[in-house]
Amino acid sequence: MGKKIFSGVQPTGNLHLGNYLGAIKNFVDLNNDNDNKCIFCVVDLHAITVKQDPKELKNNIRETVATFIASGIDPKKSIIFNQSRVAAHAEGAWILSCVARMGWLNRMTQFKEKAGKDKEKASIGLYSYPVLMAADILLYDATHVPVGDDQKQHLELCRDIAQKFNNDFEVENFLQVPEPLIQKEFSRIMSLKDGSKKMSKSELSDLSRINLTDEKDQIINKIKKAKTDPLPMPQDIKELEERLEAKNLLGIYSSLTNSTLENSVKNFAGKNFSEFKDELAENLVNKIEPISNEIKKLLGDKNYLDEILLDGVEKANLIASKKIERIKEIVGF
Ligand code: AMP
Ligand code: TRP
Repeated sequence: MGKKIFSGVQPTGNLHLGNYLGAIKNFVDLNNDNDNKCIFCVVDLHAITVKQDPKELKNNIRETVATFIASGIDPKKSIIFNQSRVAAHAEGAWILSCVARMGWLNRMTQFKEKAGKDKEKASIGLYSYPVLMAADILLYDATHVPVGDDQKQHLELCRDIAQKFNNDFEVENFLQVPEPLIQKEFSRIMSLKDGSKKMSKSELSDLSRINLTDEKDQIINKIKKAKTDPLPMPQDIKELEERLEAKNLLGIYSSLTNSTLENSVKNFAGKNFSEFKDELAENLVNKIEPISNEIKKLLGDKNYLDEILLDGVEKANLIASKKIERIKEIVGF
């Protein structure tokens, strides 16, 4: 049976290779299967949990849509919309925040990481962020949610919230408990400068990530400068446990070429990093350059992107407004 897919990406700029290999590539495959119904949401309400420049936010919303399409998502086969335009998300988040427990949210590691040392200064939105994410998913009765590894905990919370709502209000199976779709391998792409840190939009050094808008020369240069270790390429997959940078680069290579990590290790065993890096860069350029060019082209046609969003908002609203009405009835409003 076909799946009901929902996923979201924050319009916070610098969409990168981690977003692509961890999530968007998966969106494209799911979207290509005609049995599935896919909804991809530009989660602008999530974006403002940390400070955003309003002008940049507007552009970043369009750029996220452009990235979806440039990566191969067909807007005719899926709903693409931005969250803030469908009121049910904010309403649903409030109601579900009365179902979710403080103890559950206190365990969320992403909040701890993002809030940093000075938790008193983090926004309340950053804390309750996973509840809004649960509302996103539950409003559409999504059965499957494709995400990168870092969202696993948020999805578990979403499942807990759905189950508690169904129990508390005695509405068995009313909220669909969703399954995460996290790739077994390469679902966590690390920084090119530090194999122990996730590749991230907000990392200060641009050399730490391959942006989906990077040009050929930038990609080649970033791979040249990517951190490695002084040893030759690993002979055995076991060595990777202690050689995080080599592991990450080989993981990226394997994901791009659809090979297993074992095979990639075998291919380059004992060679110099420079030889491997040349091949890695070539594969990256082949994959990213067309996407980068297409994003730039699409950004030249803002009307087209806005039309896609408008169309998506209309379709999403039809689904979400019905669900939120039922939720309100159940709660007793
Ligand atoms: P975000 O940019 O935080 O909205 O993330 C969008 C999607 O990309 C989510 O499904 C994340 O799990 C995924 N993602 C973000 N960073 C990485 C990474 N370094 N490796 C793998 N997936 C990632
Ligand atoms: N929190 C997700 C992230 O940062 C983005 C997101 C928001 C999401 N709502 C969602 C992902 C619903 C999947 C489903 O990556």
